[in-house]
Amino acid sequence: MSTVSAANAGTETTRLPGEPILPEARMHVVLPTSPVNGKVVHSKLCTKSKSASFVRHVCVDVSGTPLEGSWLAGQSFGVVPPGTDGNGKPHKVRLYSIASPSYGEDGFGKVLSTTCKRLLSEREPQTPKDDPTDHRLFTGMCSNYVCDLREGDSIPVAGPAGKRFILPTDRNAHDYLLLATGTGIAPFRGFIHELFVGPPEGSPLHAAWRPCTSTVHLVMGTPYTSDLIYDDFFRHVAKQHPNFTYHTVISREVRLDGGKGEYIHHYMDRTLPQFDQMLRSERTLAYICGLAGMQVGVFQTLAQRGLHSGYLDIHAELAGIPPADWTAEQVKRRVHATRRCMLEVY
Ligand code: FAD
Ligand code: A2P
Repeated sequence: MSTVSAANAGTETTRLPGEPILPEARMHVVLPTSPVNGKVVHSKLCTKSKSASFVRHVCVDVSGTPLEGSWLAGQSFGVVPPGTDGNGKPHKVRLYSIASPSYGEDGFGKVLSTTCKRLLSEREPQTPKDDPTDHRLFTGMCSNYVCDLREGDSIPVAGPAGKRFILPTDRNAHDYLLLATGTGIAPFRGFIHELFVGPPEGSPLHAAWRPCTSTVHLVMGTPYTSDLIYDDFFRHVAKQHPNFTYHTVISREVRLDGGKGEYIHHYMDRTLPQFDQMLRSERTLAYICGLAGMQVGVFQTLAQRGLHSGYLDIHAELAGIPPADWTAEQVKRRVHATRRCMLEVY
């Protein structure tokens, strides 16, 4: 077991070794208070096979709006469902990660996509005032609105949002560890497209594009194999590009070697030699996207294995405590991602 000492954060003016130069991302070109109308041009389930969760790849044509050509892979956009909530107020904006490359599904930045999961569950008390015996079906407002839309329907959209969860300007200057759970895979579809597939013929960016020469590992966690999202796409790209490795980690199935299901940080820990050298390299950037709280296990594992340097700033308060004993609250308050570690959890 290792303990860790506090690290110093870089300031805006000093760039520490390996820190990426990020492109300037445009933000909020369309405000959620005055959304523009996009048009759904495609909507399809995107899980591997029949699954208890419903996740759709939804493509939205934003041509002719200020959103056209305005986003970078990894940013999010807003959906503002029409109508009002239970209090008679307009529905609030919900954010969805953009699953497209920066040049869009079409190669011209006119069509963006996302990976929307219907929020469906039995009701659970959210506040002490809620009735604990109420277990009727709870259906999330916006996710079901988006997933119900048909091709041709209009959708009020805003954005883009987020300026850090994006690829660096010089893609080949870094290696990448991409960690996803569930719909956290969305931005990585855009990244992998941009790094290894490239704009289609006819796109103005097609001629200049070259595949990325860096090492890229994508680790994706889902409850069951059937829940994997865009699985065929990632397998196909991995087959064609030996410098891209796609790992799947299933939490509720017995592994092929007879072991228990696991979370992505258990998998990383168990198969550490394949990540160790990469994580020690100053070239490497880590991107973590998905379930709120997934960073806790990942950060603990990195620190436990002495691989946190460059990715995490750990407060001196935790210096004498073994990382495995850190509470979730301590990790959230006292462990901060550096500029080589991008975090998007929700
Ligand atoms: P809502 O109607 O807003 O319901 C959610 C709220 O209901 C919860 O906050 C909780 O208070 C309450 N609730 C939840 N479960 C229960 C229950 N069982 N009983 C009672 N109350 C409950 N989502 C995606 O699908 N894909 C993405 O790519 C994506 N990207 C995101 C990126 C960012 C940066 C962020 C912040 C979020 C992202 N989300 C994504 C989540 C998305 O914004 C919405 O939060 C999600 O779709 C749920 O919204 P909803 O309107 O359907 O649910
Ligand atoms: P489980 O649900 O078995 O606890 P989805 O969003 O499709 O439900 O997938 C999320 C995946 O992340 C599931 O496999 C889920 O496992 C897993 N998971 C849940 N909590 C964490 C966590 N704290 N860290 C990493 N993975 C997690």
